[in-house]
Amino acid sequence: FLIRDAQFVISAVRHDQYPQEPWPEVALAGRSNVGKSSLINRLCNRRHLAKTSSKPGKTQTINFYRINNNCHLIDLPGYGYASVSKTQRATWGPMMETYMKKREQLRAVLQLVDLRHPPSSDDKAMHAWLNHYEIATAVIATKADKIPRGKRSAHLAVIRRDLQVPKEIPILAFSAETGEGKEDVLDLLAYLWEE
Ligand code: GTP
Ligand code: MG
Repeated sequence: FLIRDAQFVISAVRHDQYPQEPWPEVALAGRSNVGKSSLINRLCNRRHLAKTSSKPGKTQTINFYRINNNCHLIDLPGYGYASVSKTQRATWGPMMETYMKKREQLRAVLQLVDLRHPPSSDDKAMHAWLNHYEIATAVIATKADKIPRGKRSAHLAVIRRDLQVPKEIPILAFSAETGEGKEDVLDLLAYLWEE
């Protein structure tokens, strides 16, 4: 699967700002700083398409990217970052809930977790929430370049156990730094978009 064209569409807060196209959507969720925006840039081969930062809390709105003029990839604000303002924290929940519960075009949420660490309590809560609302999910373990190859399967097993991910649901290791796992993520997206 090839991303031939990627364009930023809109940074939305309210649902009336979402794009109108009936195209299938896949959204990325995960803790602040886990690498959601970096994954978009790597998949699209565009360094600055999505804004990234070494400081958590960079993405604060729902950002829609138009892919190949027939589907959308969505960058969601991260969770689990204590230092966001009170107002920000109060608006985050409803904004995310409205999108994930009500958006008909949404085919799946890819949950990103950091391959280096066991899932946080926020990761576990997010995963359980997605399951509860019967939203299709897959898990992507980011920053794979930070873990030596020989140790990765042990880390993946911890993530699978802690999030209680069934065997048939993939957990993909990915690195935005090296591009490792990119083809697997693109194949998964193609499957979800075309389904
Ligand atoms: P928020 O927008 O705050 O929710 O964060 P985010 O999940 O979009 O993270 P972002 O893509 O901005 O990346 C956060 C930091 O992690 C940046 O400094 C990235 O360069 C770094 N980073 C992201 N992915 C990788 C990766 O695969 N490997 C390494 N080594 N660093 C990464
Ligand atoms: Mg971001």
